[in-house]
Amino acid sequence: MSAQNQNRIKRVSVPDVRARKGGEPLVCLTAYDAPMARLLDPHCDLLLVGDSVGMVVHGLDSTIGVTLDMMILHGQAVMRAAKQALVVIDLPFGSYEQSPQQAFESASRALAETGAQAVKIESGTYAADTIRFLSERGIPVMGHVGLRPQAALNEGGFKAKGRDDMERTRVFHEAREADAAGAFAIVIEGVAEDLAAEITKAVHVPTIGIGASASCDGQILVTQDMLGLFDWTPKFVRRYAQLAEAVQDAVKAYAGDVKSRAFPAAAETYSFKPKNG
Ligand code: KIV
Repeated sequence: MSAQNQNRIKRVSVPDVRARKGGEPLVCLTAYDAPMARLLDPHCDLLLVGDSVGMVVHGLDSTIGVTLDMMILHGQAVMRAAKQALVVIDLPFGSYEQSPQQAFESASRALAETGAQAVKIESGTYAADTIRFLSERGIPVMGHVGLRPQAALNEGGFKAKGRDDMERTRVFHEAREADAAGAFAIVIEGVAEDLAAEITKAVHVPTIGIGASASCDGQILVTQDMLGLFDWTPKFVRRYAQLAEAVQDAVKAYAGDVKSRAFPAAAETYSFKPKNG
């Protein structure tokens, strides 16, 4: 594609996402690096540089050890390749909870240093002030309610939410508050369909579900989960490919060829003729 044509691709904007409330479902996936972002970009409305990168790419047990510098590095890689999807950077644990001012410093760094268009925060009860503070200062914010992976330490792991009335009410109010505070979209993770449907009906912005049923205005999955790169995936993941098997088969074949000297063959070997003089 020529540089001129590339410039003509119009990137999905925050108002475009907002306008999809109740319309065609938003297609969203996580992305952490340039080669994958290049493959996902033409098919997605939104790419999230999720702090799940800590578990998916760096092998951490949770997202707690992910830093803002890590998010910026991965955000830069994704932004080099994603030309049309809206790119959202997750603010990691410890980079925004202390105060709206701390959140502003982290979010403005994330946007300025990557060129991404928005940030996401896991919006617990304390977060409405932060969402308002950022939105009013020109930083688009996506909320995240229900199962919040950054709360895993307090909760003893990753647990679906809304199992009792008190929890349902809390998740519902967190979503309403994020909406009222100016979030342009809200991720709902790990809740039953009736609660997701209730929230989706009650808020003015698109809801993006992960383990939250087809009642949401869009869906997001961790890309490596849906590509079948891991032995285990949560109940809500559908595997659209079996990449782990494909990689293992390919590596096994390569190892066999190296050992038998079938690789490299003549076609994969240089044969320069010496130049005279
Ligand atoms: O970090 C992440 O990948 C996320 C998605 C699961 C929504 O927050």
